[in-house]
Amino acid sequence: MGDSVVRESSGVGAGGGALDRDGKPVISALQAVIRHKTAKIGVIGLGYVGLPLIRTFVAAGFQTLGFDVDPQKIEKLLAGQSYIEHIPAQWIDQCVRQGTFTPTGDMGRMAEADALLICVPTPLNRSRDPDLIYVEATAREIAVHLRPGQLIVLESTTYPGTTRDVVLPILEKTGLVLGREFFLAYSPEREDPGNPDFTAGNIPKVVGASEPLSRELAVQLYRQGMPEVIPVNTYEVAEACKILENSYRAINIALVNELKMLFDRIGIDVWEVIEAAKTKPFGFQAFYPGPGLGGHCIPIDPFYLTWLARCHGMTTRFIELAGEINTNMPWYVLQRLTEALNERCKSLRGSKVGVLGVAYKKDVDDARESPAFALIELLRKAGAEVSYNDPHIPRLAQTRHFCFPLESSPLTAEYLAAQDCILIATDHSAYDYEFIVRHAPLVVDTRNATKNVRLGREKICKA
Ligand SMILES: NC(=O)c1ccc[n+]([C@@H]2O[C@H](COP(=O)([O-])OP(=O)(O)OC[C@H]3O[C@@H](n4cnc5c(N)ncnc54)[C@H](O)[C@@H]3O)[C@@H](O)[C@H]2O)c1
Repeated sequence: MGDSVVRESSGVGAGGGALDRDGKPVISALQAVIRHKTAKIGVIGLGYVGLPLIRTFVAAGFQTLGFDVDPQKIEKLLAGQSYIEHIPAQWIDQCVRQGTFTPTGDMGRMAEADALLICVPTPLNRSRDPDLIYVEATAREIAVHLRPGQLIVLESTTYPGTTRDVVLPILEKTGLVLGREFFLAYSPEREDPGNPDFTAGNIPKVVGASEPLSRELAVQLYRQGMPEVIPVNTYEVAEACKILENSYRAINIALVNELKMLFDRIGIDVWEVIEAAKTKPFGFQAFYPGPGLGGHCIPIDPFYLTWLARCHGMTTRFIELAGEINTNMPWYVLQRLTEALNERCKSLRGSKVGVLGVAYKKDVDDARESPAFALIELLRKAGAEVSYNDPHIPRLAQTRHFCFPLESSPLTAEYLAAQDCILIATDHSAYDYEFIVRHAPLVVDTRNATKNVRLGREKICKA
C-alpha cells in the first residue's frame, strides 16, 4: 500500500477533489506514491499479458500484487515456478521471496493496491460476439473493494465503449466519484510473446481516459515503467487503436494468404515476391502467409469491432473477408498436402502425417486458436493417422472446439522416416530443417521454414 494514500476519504477539497486523512487531495497522494515508486501496483489476470506487466513494474522499482482466479497458477507462482516459457522461474522465485511480487487469489487484497491493471481474457462467445464475462466479473470484484485514491486501468483488448459503458457504471455503483475519488483509464496491451526484441518494458504505451485527472495519473504511472507513453483524449480512442492494430494485421495476412493461393496456381513463389517487395524503403510492410491465423488476439479482436458495427447498423467488410480467407487456409493446406501425396501415388486416407509445430506462432508455448488444431482435425477426418511434435507443447490440452489426446512425438530420424508426410505448421527456431528434410519422405511447408535447406528440395512442397 502506498504510504500516503488513505483508504477512506474524509472530505472534499477546494477543487472538488476528495481529501485524505491529512486533508490532502487523494490525487496528490496518488501522484506522490507513483512519483516515489512507493505505489503498490496490482495486476489482475496473470497470463501472457499480466505476468510480463508485473515484470515491467518490478523492474521499474515498484512492489506488485498479482491476482488470479486460477488457484493452480497462484500455487505455482508462490512455489517460484513459471507456466509461461518466456517468463523465467528464477525471476518469479526471486521476486516472490523478495516481496516485490506477491501472487494471490485473495481479491480482498485489491484494496491494498494504489493502481489496479486489468489483464483478463476477452474471448468471443459461441455466436462469435464479444464475451465480456471476465471483464465484468473483475469490475464487480474491484467495486467490492474500491476505495478513494485508486487508479483502475483496463488493459484487455476490447471494443470501443467497454470502459465507459461496461466498467465505469459498475465502479460508479459504489457511490465513489470518477475523477475525484477514483480514477479510470484504458491502456491496451501490445505484448508480442516470443519476440525477443520487444517486451512490455520497451513498447510505447497508449493511454486514454475521458477526464484529465485519470489520464494524467495513468500517464504518470506508465511513464515510470515504459519508454514512451502516448496520451489520447478518450477511452474509445485507445480501445479503437488496439483493434485497428490487430485488424490491420488480420487483413494484411489475409491479403498475402490470398495471393499465395493465386501465385501458387501460376507458379510464382509468394515468399520470394514478399522478400523482393520489402526492399522498398517506404509504403510497404511485409506480412507473411501461413496455414491460418492463431493466438488470442488476431483471429478474435477484429470481430469485437464487427459486432460493434452491427450494433450501429453497419458492416466491417474488410474484417469479415479477411476472417473468411484466413479461416479457410487449413482447407487449402489440406488440398496441397493431398496433391503432394497423390503425386507419390499415395492417398491421404491411411497415410501417416506428422505435424510439426502446434503453437500458433514460432517459439511460443501458446496453442490458443492455433490453425494446427483445424489441420489435425481435417487430416483425421480424411482418414490420416496424425501425430505431432512441438518442443514447446508436450501435450495437446483440450480447447473450446477441439479435443485430441495427443502427446508430442520425439523428433528422431526414425519418426520422420516413418511418416508419409511431414507438415510444417509452425516454424519454430529450434527445428533443424536440414535434418527434417533429410529424413522425411515428403515435407509440406506452410511457413517457408525450409527456405535455406539445400539437399532434398524435391521433397519439399510449399503450401
Ligand atoms: N496474449 C497476447 O499476446 C496478448 C497481447 C495483447 C493483448 N492481449 C489481450 O490481453 C488480455 C489477456 O490476454 P492473455 O493472453 O494474458 O490471457 P491469459 O488467458 O493468458 O490470462 C488471463 C488470466 O486472467 C485470469 N482471470 C480470468 N478471470 C479473472 C478474474 N475475474 N480475476 C482474476 N483473474 C482472472 C485467468 O485465470 C488467466 O490466468 C486479453 O484481452 C487479450 O486479448 C493479449
